[in-house]
Amino acid sequence: MNLKPLLGIIAATTLGSALMAEQPSTVAMRAFGQTKAGEPVMLYTLTNAKGLSADITNYGGIMVRLLVPDREGKLGDILLGYNTVDEYIAKTPYFGALIGRVGNRIAHGKFTLDGQTYTLALNDHPGDIPCNLHGGNLGFDKVLWQAEPVIKDNAPGLKLHRVSPDGEEGFPGNLDVTVTYWLTNANELKIEYRATTDKATPVNLTQHNYYNLRGDGNGDILGHILTINGSQTTPVNAGLIPTGELAPVAGTPFDFLTPTPMGKNINADNQQIKYGPGFDHNWVLDRKTAKELELAATVYEPTTGRVMEVWTQEPALQFYAGNFLDGTLVGKNGKPYQYRTGFCLETQHSPDSINQPTFPSTVLRPGEVYSTVTVYRFSAK
Ligand code: GLA
Repeated sequence: MNLKPLLGIIAATTLGSALMAEQPSTVAMRAFGQTKAGEPVMLYTLTNAKGLSADITNYGGIMVRLLVPDREGKLGDILLGYNTVDEYIAKTPYFGALIGRVGNRIAHGKFTLDGQTYTLALNDHPGDIPCNLHGGNLGFDKVLWQAEPVIKDNAPGLKLHRVSPDGEEGFPGNLDVTVTYWLTNANELKIEYRATTDKATPVNLTQHNYYNLRGDGNGDILGHILTINGSQTTPVNAGLIPTGELAPVAGTPFDFLTPTPMGKNINADNQQIKYGPGFDHNWVLDRKTAKELELAATVYEPTTGRVMEVWTQEPALQFYAGNFLDGTLVGKNGKPYQYRTGFCLETQHSPDSINQPTFPSTVLRPGEVYSTVTVYRFSAK
């Protein structure tokens, strides 16, 4: 008997079912309420070929949900957030939001650029010391973006665009910003940031997802095992503003060079930890190249097996352990967000870089393109 034609059919059938497992990527869209001014807000659901999905709204570019598999392949939402846009408008510690024009803190809400002094909102007061935080009173997290669903290489994306007008929140220049969220078929959340300006201005964009790899609402994050490829931090004063020094992590609670539970040294008797209170600090990444994507951090959650790697082109990383969550905000699942039930790993330039001449510059000038990419890669073991 000639087996050849039969084998041909089997091969085609196997190939056929393998292709079936790769479902087509989709971007779906639905209404998500409205702003105070009555503008409609939308919610976009990106689903990749592997079944990973993310819900993103054009209000603040907020990522509301991110469903990734555990070691059994079961999908779970690993982000803190709310069910309605009204709750995001009412009160949020930047859950899931795009952050700009300048992420993190600016000392005394002031900076001088090309001989001119700019005064910003004082919207944060750690240790009773006022500063500008995350772009001011109406940062990029609290505005509507133009949204365009996109698909490339069978990966779904959402392209968000906005021109931040000259003088907005006190910053100089019309800043034309595009942020694209992708869910690649390598199970990555990839965030591409791009901006141009018509006047010199500081720019430091980031994204403020609060992760809990056990699943949203499933307790604290203290047992997550964290590795940070950074052997120095930027020590802060009581107002969480860098002093300008770089401190080696070796022999301190900030040493995450090898995998360490987030909770292990979070209450250590250490002045920097007391300022946090807990981890709310900036690590200078040990980079090998100037601008390639490099591994900045890895988080492993032992009970679910979920792993998240953070790859970035940025020089620094803020690790915030949810120290300001106190049970007053009630999340998507109806449960209050208690102390340290979510963590953030925000890729960026270090805080107050605009006032720190020895830190890498955050100044963007006309004719230049601000371009940076960060990838959160998910797996399970
Ligand atoms: C950032 C800051 C924290 C805190 C949160 C929002 O991560 O570093 O100090 O302000 O945002 O609550």
